[in-house]
Amino acid sequence: MKVDWVSLAHFRSYQELEWQPDPGVNLLLGPNGAGKTNLLEAIAYLSSLRSFRSVPDPSLIADGEIAAVVRAGVSSGSRERLVEIELPRSGPRRTQLDKSRLRKTADLLGVLRVIAFLPDDLDLVKRGPAYRRDLLDAVAVQLWPAAHHDQGEFDRALRQRNAFLKSGGRDDMTLSVWDARLAQSGGRVMSRRARVIETLSPHLESAYGDIAGKPERASIGYIATWGARHALDGAAADFTAAILGSLERSRKVDYDRRLTSVGPHRDEPVLALDGIDTRTHGSQGEQRTMALAIKLAAHRSVAEMIDEPPVLLLDDVFSELDPQRAEALAKTLPPDTQTLISSARPEDVPVEGAVWRVGDGVRR
Ligand SMILES: Nc1ncnc2c1ncn2[C@@H]1O[C@H](COP(=O)(O)OP(=O)(O)OP(=O)(O)O)[C@@H](O)[C@H]1O
Ligand SMILES: [Mg+2]
Repeated sequence: MKVDWVSLAHFRSYQELEWQPDPGVNLLLGPNGAGKTNLLEAIAYLSSLRSFRSVPDPSLIADGEIAAVVRAGVSSGSRERLVEIELPRSGPRRTQLDKSRLRKTADLLGVLRVIAFLPDDLDLVKRGPAYRRDLLDAVAVQLWPAAHHDQGEFDRALRQRNAFLKSGGRDDMTLSVWDARLAQSGGRVMSRRARVIETLSPHLESAYGDIAGKPERASIGYIATWGARHALDGAAADFTAAILGSLERSRKVDYDRRLTSVGPHRDEPVLALDGIDTRTHGSQGEQRTMALAIKLAAHRSVAEMIDEPPVLLLDDVFSELDPQRAEALAKTLPPDTQTLISSARPEDVPVEGAVWRVGDGVRR
């Protein structure tokens, strides 16, 4: 999968930009604030329909403008597609695929698949569980675009249940309506997470070995707050039943705390080396290698699923690594993959590729 060209209008620091990346490795170089991350963010947005900086859409619109537009030509095998998305400051997004208006923005998902790695991701292992849940959910969307819908439903149901609890309501009839909705969507979110873990696992082990250069068994596990003993077996309906039971059991606590204390939004994905939690026991270096390995594993998993490598974005990652690990990452970069690497310090990037200067536009 490749981005043949990208065109931006009023997107962050770009008034206008036309750029045709190489199909192979691209190095985006330029000083701090030049717009390197902004460009990668625009491309990633087409793939996940949200900013990888976890900010609301209006921040993506250039200051003083009323709408941003991102367009790209994307090729997959011999098929070329034209993707367009307009983000207005108010009102819904407008999307087009091959010049026809899409009824739902989410129909764009899957046209461009991207795995992005940001400097913050290096801390994935040591940060709170929310980051690791988000990782699983983001990989799920790249593997199965329909996951986006389930995640949206779940988030809405959770917000509504929490709003009811926060208002001080204590009414089992009303709560049971929210419980059912939360458990339904939660079951689907959970079954995707379980399949992401299953899909990632073999790739995680091999990717960790490739970067670390020594055999250690990297694995990913999952601690479910809703108490299923064999949390990762079963179909969506089994997860739904388990979550529902747990919500009912925790009602009293939830009324008192005025929030939803159990469910997929409180679970903890665990990354481990030889069975031991890397968050609590790993060295800083092991934690970072694990973070790199999980992203490479995600890339390998999606490549296997769609039978071609997704686009890989590495935003300023090399400068954050010691030379040895940077070298290891460079050697492990996936072949035949369009890779966009940004850096303010080219000497930190031990990778060959098409060199682009980012500053006033993007030029060779
Ligand atoms: N909505 C916006 N409108 C206009 N300019 C914006 C907007 N959002 C961000 N910017 C500008 O974009 C610039 C940052 O761009 P970006 O994050 O892409 O830089 P970078 O090249 O990645 O830098 P670094 O090397 O520090 O990571 C900042 O100068 C910021 O003011
Ligand atoms: Mg940047």
